[in-house]
Amino acid sequence: EPSLIIAPSILAADFARLADEVHAIEGSADWVHVDVMDNHFVPNLTIGLPVVQSLRKATSIPFDVHLMITDPERWAPGYAEAGAYNVTFHAEATDDPVALAKTLRAAGAKAGLAIDRDTSVEPYLDLLPHVDTVLIMTIKAGFGGQKFLPETLGKVREVRRRIDAGQLEVRLEVDGGIAADTIEQAAEAGADAFVAGTAVYGAQDPAEAIRKLRALAGA
Ligand code: DX5
Ligand code: ZN
Repeated sequence: EPSLIIAPSILAADFARLADEVHAIEGSADWVHVDVMDNHFVPNLTIGLPVVQSLRKATSIPFDVHLMITDPERWAPGYAEAGAYNVTFHAEATDDPVALAKTLRAAGAKAGLAIDRDTSVEPYLDLLPHVDTVLIMTIKAGFGGQKFLPETLGKVREVRRRIDAGQLEVRLEVDGGIAADTIEQAAEAGADAFVAGTAVYGAQDPAEAIRKLRALAGA
């Protein structure tokens, strides 16, 4: 894996041209971020397994699936079987994150644990050796295009400290409002994977926007 990951979110792409929108970032992005919402865990509805299965055949870029759904035990393994590289479920949606992570790894995917805006990370710090990715929401999960919340960066710093102290191989991802004017703060706090929807797909030239974000995060 590259030391720094840029993962454009197709939530901000044109859903009528999904494959083309992924092809537009294939050469410059590391992963493509796929936001799955069920209108239950969050008050918004996006795409599900059939779309991911079809899209998987249209590209070779790794899929970073972000499940904003209740009952992730029921659905998460299907995304791993569909060929997702990383499957992230929400801490708030499961009673047994370690068991679910184990199931995902057995199904061939990396396992990610997401922490929403109003959830603290302390109860989860001891679980870090059991997951591959921690995703800290830098907004409230549910919609793209929201304003980045710098107060969430304390959690990024805490998780970074714990990863480094334990020399753990855990990817630390931030999601929400990541753009040219916010990515440096997130990188400074310790993030090494950056989801960006609006900042990439809202740009005139998505590939150029990714190069700019990468340079800012790496500086
Ligand atoms: C929101 C999603 C994000 C969203 C980010 O709940 O998890 O991945 O696409 O969009 P921007 O980058 O526009 O904030
Ligand atoms: Zn997301």
